Amino acid sequence: MEIFYQITLSVKTLLACSILPFLYFGLHAKYWYSPNRLRNIDIMLVLVASLSAAAIVISMTAPGRSAEGIDAMLLAFAHLCPLALTFLIVAEGRRRPKVTHTHQNPNSTSDETSYIPAPISAIEHLTWDDLIVSHELKRELDTVVRLLHDPQSAAQYGIEAPKGILFQGPPGTGKTTIAKVMANVAGLSFFVLRSDDIVSKWVGESEKNLSKLFHAAQKHAPSIIFIDEIDSIGKTRASDGQRFNDNLLNHLLQLVDGVIKAQGIYIIGATNRADLVDSALKRPGRLNKVIEIPLPDMNARAELFRLYLSKLTLEAEINYFFLAKMTQGCSGATIKEICNQAGLNAFQRESAGSKKDRQYQVTHNDLMTALEQFAPTSLQHGELPSGTYGN
Ligand SMILES: Nc1ncnc2c1ncn2[C@@H]1O[C@H](COP(=O)(O)OP(=O)(O)O)[C@@H](O)[C@H]1O
Ligand SMILES: [Mg+2]
Repeated sequence: MEIFYQITLSVKTLLACSILPFLYFGLHAKYWYSPNRLRNIDIMLVLVASLSAAAIVISMTAPGRSAEGIDAMLLAFAHLCPLALTFLIVAEGRRRPKVTHTHQNPNSTSDETSYIPAPISAIEHLTWDDLIVSHELKRELDTVVRLLHDPQSAAQYGIEAPKGILFQGPPGTGKTTIAKVMANVAGLSFFVLRSDDIVSKWVGESEKNLSKLFHAAQKHAPSIIFIDEIDSIGKTRASDGQRFNDNLLNHLLQLVDGVIKAQGIYIIGATNRADLVDSALKRPGRLNKVIEIPLPDMNARAELFRLYLSKLTLEAEINYFFLAKMTQGCSGATIKEICNQAGLNAFQRESAGSKKDRQYQVTHNDLMTALEQFAPTSLQHGELPSGTYGN
């Protein structure tokens, strides 16, 4: 009490109190993308305003203060005004919806943004057996996985576990699937960052969504953040100044740097065009380890056919190498589609007849039709020769 009695109010203390509302707006303008930090700022401002108000009120009850007259009372009242204003704006700011989407789902009852990042759980069954990659690539990826799984042993060897990797390769070569397998095998939570999910027309909203995802990944650490088509966010900064994208990229760089310093979060970026990715993202210490994911070669294509056709019942044995030869330049995704389409063709053919006659088998023709659909150029030489079947 005694200490509060000694407070003498003056123009200086009035100015100090008046700064609080300005501080609120200044800090909110600076950290609008970080809801957690804003909450802490609000708590801090309310605490400071409450303590100041309590100190001023107590100081007015000091013995002999009443003799100072009406001017002293007015000065104290003037002090309380900005403090009360601070309470009001913090309360109003927290009451108002943080984000309003005009394109928000009208059925949604929430007035918050609909973007709620969560780890992907559908990766639990994925293992290396689901992937056809060359031995060298598998060994390289496996080393990374072991380092991610056990960063302590990396430290014992005096090496740093990679914090950021960039997968480069044509579409459908399995980049996303590889990242999922790595997360599952290393036992990490898996978050996917797609620009479509986070980019919003509202100023600052995209950055806020980006922060949300990184915070969620931190909460579920150890985790992998997989940035699909990273070139769409991390595109080389255009000289004509695409400010919107620049802001997002700068924010991503800040978050990536934060992650690199933190423990237990790893970033994997994927792109078809590594040359389009801003060099700041590929700088040493960020996503500097570039791993090439090429189109499958002859052997890999044969293995892919073996993998995906094993899920179907075939009428006769198949020469996988012949199929591989017919699908030169096709990605793993296309081969998967061909096999699936062959099954669909069988289903369509058999569903035209009666149920009891169904064989549930994929025939030579089903496969041919599928190949024609997805790899027409490889069939320019006509019918699949009879050598396709048998070994
Ligand atoms: N090398 C591969 N081994 C096994 N499956 C593959 C391979 N490449 C692609 N696929 C399959 O193709 C589909 C698309 O692959 P995806 O990982 O999305 O490719 P990307 O991310 O490179 O575009 C997935 O279902 C995946 O299982
Ligand atoms: Mg992908």
